[in-house]
Amino acid sequence: MARTFFVGGNFKMNGSKESISTIVQNLNKADLPSNVEVVLCPPYPYLAQVVAENKQPTVKVGAQNCYLKASGAYTGEVSPEFLKDLGVGYVVLGHSERRQYFKESDEFVADKVKFALSEGLKVILCIGETFEEKKAGKTIDVCKRELSAVAEKVKDWTNIVVAYEPIWAIGTGLAATAADAEEVHADIRKYLSTVIGAQAEEVRILYGGSAKASNVGGFRDKKNVDGFLVGGASLKPEFADIIKSRQ
Ligand code: G3P
Repeated sequence: MARTFFVGGNFKMNGSKESISTIVQNLNKADLPSNVEVVLCPPYPYLAQVVAENKQPTVKVGAQNCYLKASGAYTGEVSPEFLKDLGVGYVVLGHSERRQYFKESDEFVADKVKFALSEGLKVILCIGETFEEKKAGKTIDVCKRELSAVAEKVKDWTNIVVAYEPIWAIGTGLAATAADAEEVHADIRKYLSTVIGAQAEEVRILYGGSAKASNVGGFRDKKNVDGFLVGGASLKPEFADIIKSRQ
């Protein structure tokens, strides 16, 4: 089956009311392909604004994180229910920056994925290795470890999109080559088939890590690269070109 091309924009902790409005207005004016799923992930304070200002039917809104409770005494946390209340349909979970800076374990990420799905959100699950792990030849071992933590708790991956983001490529300008990314994506899909069976063929696997309009064309013929999770370039007009890059 053909997997729908998917492009996520992770704004990270960047933007303002004005700059994010400009990004959304630019996309509203763009001639976006009808067969590409786009998810914009602004910082929490701007979620409602992006939902309200977006006019593109193929563009949805996602959060960059959420907690694993619906409500309660969890100061500072954001519930999946709040996100659904705002019309937000996706959430990024397990991003390497949250695993690194906020010490989110594989188990904690897996629990959040399970809860977010149970609350009706779709999940962009981030995995990926450090440069040291890559040098040690442990790339797929790390990916398998992070995926298996989720597979132990979640059996239906219909609403999970996987984002392979080699940490050494994030924010460095040094993207993985399309060939290297395809090799890892194929290994990810092969591993997923051992834990979720035939559904592995339906799971979109995105590449993230210095994806830019200047390099995404090289991924066009990579059959296991189903799209991109874009950081820095999602804040720039070139983001529309990345969305169109599979045309
Ligand atoms: O989540 C996407 C992000 O980690 C990639 O960042 O700036 O390398 O595109 P960037």
